[in-house]
Formats: sequence, C-alpha cells, structure tokens
Amino acid sequence: MTSSKGLLLPVLCAAVAAAGLASAGFAEPPAVAVEISVEAAYAQGCVDCHDGTAVATVGALLEELGHPDVDEETETLPGDCAACHSEEGGMWFLSEVAHMSHYREPATNSFVQDYGGECRHCHLMDGETGAVSVKSGPKNW
Ligand code: HEC
Ligand code: HEC
Ligand code: HEC
Repeated sequence: MTSSKGLLLPVLCAAVAAAGLASAGFAEPPAVAVEISVEAAYAQGCVDCHDGTAVATVGALLEELGHPDVDEETETLPGDCAACHSEEGGMWFLSEVAHMSHYREPATNSFVQDYGGECRHCHLMDGETGAVSVKSGPKNW
C-alpha cells in the first residue's frame, strides 16, 4: 500500500503539471504580460490600440454606431468622454460603455478573441502602491 501511494503522488503531480503546461499554451506569452504591466504596450490605452490600422479609430467606430458627433469636444481619451458618460453627464458611465463595448458577446467580440480581454490594455496596475488607473492619450482622428 505504502509503495503504491508513494507512486500515485508523483503520477498525479505529473498530470497536473502537464495540464498546467497545456493551458499555459493558450495564455498570452509572459513577455506581453510584463510589457502591459510596465506600460510598455498600449501605453496610451484606447488610442494606441485604436490607431486605425488593425483596429479602427474610436472616432470611426463611434460614427459607425451612429453615436452623437463628439469630435470637437474630444481632445483626450477616454477622459473627455466623461463629459457625458458620468453622473453629471447623465449618460451611461464611462466604465460601463468601455466595459460593455469590449466584453459583450465574448464568443464573437474581437477584443476578447484577439486581445485576450486583458484588463491592463486599458488599466495600469501599480504593483508598488496597489493603485489602479486608466491609461490615457490624445485623440488620433
Ligand atoms: C488592445 C486593444 C484595445 C484597447 C486598448 C481599446 N480597445 Fe476599443 N476595441 C478594440 C477592439 C478589437 C474592438 C472591436 C472592434 C471591431 O469589432 O471592429 C473595440 C471596440 C470598441 C468600440 C466599438 C464598440 C461597439 O459597440 O462596436 C469602441 C467605441 C471602443 N472600442 C472604444 C474604446 C475606448 C474608449 C478605449 C479606451 C478606454 C478602448 N476602446 C480601448 C480594441 C481595443
Ligand atoms: C455629448 C455627449 C457625449 C459625449 C462627449 C460622448 N458620448 Fe458616448 N453616448 C452619448 C449618448 C447620448 C449615447 C447614447 C446613444 C444612444 O442611446 O443611442 C452614447 C452612447 C455611447 C456608447 C454606446 C453606443 C452603443 O449603441 O452601443 C458608446 C460605446 C459611447 N457612447 C462611447 C463614447 C466614447 C468613447 C466617447 C468619447 C470619445 C463618448 N462616447 C463621448 C453621448 C456622448
Ligand atoms: C477598453 C478599456 C477597458 C478595459 C479592457 C477594462 N476597463 Fe475597467 N475601466 C475602463 C474605464 C474607461 C473606466 C472608467 C474610469 C473612470 O471613470 O475614470 C474603468 C473603470 C473600472 C473600474 C472602476 C469601477 C467602475 O466600474 O467604475 C473597475 C473596478 C474596473 N474598471 C475593472 C476592470 C476589470 C476587472 C477589467 C478586466 C476584466 C477591466 N476593467 C477592463 C476601461 C477599461
């Protein structure tokens, strides 16, 4: 009995390790996780990803959605969007429109499918203080 127990544990460990390896194959490479953690990737958040190449500009997508024209009053994203998307503005909160846009219908949502649905593409986590913030950048359309 003792010897078979002694055998079972290493076998289980190997199985768990193999499963871990297999699932790690689906995750983003660690280098990307490190880059987004130190603000090297998509440092300016919205506009760095929505640069009009792989992903359309936010301006173009809003136009497609039939969103009110906000070109004139927008200089910085996403901060200026809060003029309306806030308690004072009376519209959906900024967090709500940002999260809904990128997480609804996950099976077909390109942010989830192609960008791993990674929070830190928009958020910055400061590991020294524990503070979370939202990346920001100038309008690019
Ligand atoms: C790392 C990439 C990435 C970042 C960062 C990002 N987005 Fe997106 N966003 C996407 C992708 C991909 C889509 C889906 C585009 C499509 O379907 O063509 C999308 C969709 C959208 C849409 C359209 C939503 C809809 O209902 O069709 C809006 C508006 C938008 N993003 C605004 C923003 C804003 C504002 C920010 C910053 C707070 C931001 N995005 C940050 C990748 C990104
Ligand atoms: C002048 C006010 C105003 C500003 C500024 C504004 N919005 Fe909006 N937004 C609206 C209104 C009004 C709606 C609701 C439209 C509707 O019900 O169809 C809306 C809806 C949205 C939606 C949901 C669209 C949908 O149908 O799924 C998104 C996403 C959005 N806004 C993103 C943004 C972003 C990003 C910015 C900044 C670049 C921004 N908004 C700035 C007024 C504004
Ligand atoms: C497309 C960009 C984007 C992504 C991706 C994103 N967020 Fe956000 N998040 C925002 C914005 C914009 C705000 C609003 C900041 C503000 O109001 O100043 C926000 C606010 C928040 C808040 C503050 C509370 C609230 O609801 O207002 C929390 C908590 C949060 N996000 C968690 C997350 C988590 C967890 C993920 C990943 C699962 C995530 N976010 C992914 C853009 C994003």
